[in-house]
Amino acid sequence: MFDFTKYRKLFLATEKYVYLNHASTGPLPLPAVKAISDLAIRYSGQGSIEWQEYEALSNSTKNLIAKLLNASKDEICFVQNTSQGIIYAINSIPFEKGDNVIILKDAFPTNSYPFRFLLPNVEKRYVTSKDLIDNPGCLLKLIDKKTKAVSLDWVNFLNGIRIDAKRISQICKENNIYFIIDGMQGCGAVRIDLNDIQPDFFSSAAPKWLLGPHGIGIFYVNKNVLGKLKPSNIGWLSADWDDFYDILTPRKLKTTASKFEEGTKNYLGIIGFRESLKIFDEIGIDKITSQVLDLTEYLIQKINNPEFEIITPLERAHRAGIVSFRKKNTDSIKLFNKLKENNIICSLREGYLRIAPHFYNTTQELDRLIELIP
Ligand SMILES: Cc1ncc(COP(=O)(O)O)c(C=O)c1O
Repeated sequence: MFDFTKYRKLFLATEKYVYLNHASTGPLPLPAVKAISDLAIRYSGQGSIEWQEYEALSNSTKNLIAKLLNASKDEICFVQNTSQGIIYAINSIPFEKGDNVIILKDAFPTNSYPFRFLLPNVEKRYVTSKDLIDNPGCLLKLIDKKTKAVSLDWVNFLNGIRIDAKRISQICKENNIYFIIDGMQGCGAVRIDLNDIQPDFFSSAAPKWLLGPHGIGIFYVNKNVLGKLKPSNIGWLSADWDDFYDILTPRKLKTTASKFEEGTKNYLGIIGFRESLKIFDEIGIDKITSQVLDLTEYLIQKINNPEFEIITPLERAHRAGIVSFRKKNTDSIKLFNKLKENNIICSLREGYLRIAPHFYNTTQELDRLIELIP
């Protein structure tokens, strides 16, 4: 059996806490802390760092991302957060008067606010994550000739529902509709295969399940749509540069997703993220997926009785790393505070306790949680 516990020492949070809050923030592993601090010291000591070194850093990090997601490196660029990727997708799609979009009624606001405020004249049609697991085909009732995009959270922030992204992508393809995925609550917890799913866009930031720093994230643009999009956030670094000896000669724009990186990147974030990604690469995302699903299953089995209302699907295929529940006739805030006082860290969302273990958590830690919610 694979020894996940040896990775625990990479996370200082494990020394003091039972840390079950990866749906909020993943603790930064020590190799990421060291890489960021080493680069920061070099910044201080030498100021400028060679462009070629930064390019090599970006490229090696993108290679790890591409491998994790089963995508091509040319389809990957860096963003600051999930929102930025969703906004880039919206700004790149050639929306026309009379178009409509389908979004989630229970989306995390990352995947609804940009639609509401950037597309005030585009009709919004709503579906819920529950509707989609019961029957992904329910989308067909909402789709018509004017449906331009479907934008969904792969894993719901509250109930942890993991939708069937492949089936939904097929429906979008058959109806010539752009498909955007907010992957934030699943990416790093369970495996996703973008080459198989073929969405048009996928956005996920680093600091939850991917255990990376704040201010850095992944934006994927399918190679089949890259050439068809409206130019969006084009800047000087959207062009191809080998060096900066001759700045004023016009350069050609990149044809890869990197053209969305309009200016200087967050190298401190990227170098930390690369270390986090190396851990995923070393263990393997399939092993991580099984471990996360085993841990959530363990917890579900312990609380699956009439005293609890569990809003997360019991089936493995329909969930990822989140289990949300409340104890009937018990104040969730009191329970949440009791857990906190006992150094068990989770989230309280909409009256439900949201438990989100990662691969380095243990069943013994879940037992400590269960002991406190008798
Ligand atoms: C589904 C989902 N998407 C995105 C985010 C965060 O968005 P951003 O990275 O833009 O802050 C969250 C939670 O913070 C989330 O639950």
